[in-house]
Amino acid sequence: MAEEEWVYKESRNIKMEDFLSERKVEGKVYDKRTLMAIFKLMKRGVIKTLESTVKEGKESIVVAAKNKEGEWLALKIYRVEHCDFKSMWKYLISDHRFERIKKDRWHVVTNWAKREFRNMQIAYEANVSCPKPISVYQNVLVMSFIGEDGIPTPTLAQIEEEELDWEKIYEQVKEEMVKLTKAGIIHTDLSAFNILYYDKAYIIDFSQGVTNRHPLALNFLERDVKNINEFFKKKNVKIDENLFDSLKRLIE
Ligand SMILES: Nc1ncnc2c1ncn2[C@@H]1O[C@H](COP(=O)(O)OP(=O)(O)O)[C@@H](O)[C@H]1O
Ligand SMILES: [Mg+2]
Repeated sequence: MAEEEWVYKESRNIKMEDFLSERKVEGKVYDKRTLMAIFKLMKRGVIKTLESTVKEGKESIVVAAKNKEGEWLALKIYRVEHCDFKSMWKYLISDHRFERIKKDRWHVVTNWAKREFRNMQIAYEANVSCPKPISVYQNVLVMSFIGEDGIPTPTLAQIEEEELDWEKIYEQVKEEMVKLTKAGIIHTDLSAFNILYYDKAYIIDFSQGVTNRHPLALNFLERDVKNINEFFKKKNVKIDENLFDSLKRLIE
């Protein structure tokens, strides 16, 4: 079916023609394929409305949305035009699950979103504290929203309060790392910037996660541990010097 025809057919019932012709969502101009993806998720009943932009990064935009029950969702929309798809491609093909990916911008970005979703699914099923992965379609990943009323909760790096029980948070983060490692996933970008704090810590941003079969899995794990330990050390927490070794044992 031609693209235009598809738009017409699919949008008929929910009067989305204006939305599509303006190519604007929440004041942002999205490319057509992204709009189609959002639209498809609406048609499938995964999302009902887009509410506000939470964070605009170089490679993705996170948008607060709602489903028909009025529950808050977070949409991570990967940007197609601005991403460094060549380095994404290199990362992807080094992951045995994605080694056949073509060097094509759209193909790379959609698989990047798929990888984040798969990693998050494995983490969530292993009971790791992270957003609940709900759906992925093309370059749009839908997950549960961490925070209240569409207002995102801060990352650990953004929290300045000294009163927080950093020791307790460190213990929790260590437990999450054990669960994730046992589930066979190495985050590879784990740091205080990718942990949200609400009622407890939530690990986010799984797009770079690899399986423990990756040739550099241990190096990545060591780097994750280093980032986490350095952060908590600055918070005067007594850190676990054996953390890497004990996690490593879960892989070997
Ligand atoms: N599930 C979520 N709930 C609420 N806010 C989120 C969620 N996922 C991401 N965010 C917000 O978007 C920001 C960027 O998300 P992240 O996945 O780290 O993307 P990036 O690739 O830009 O680093 C987070 O710091 C947080 O503010
Ligand atoms: Mg991040």
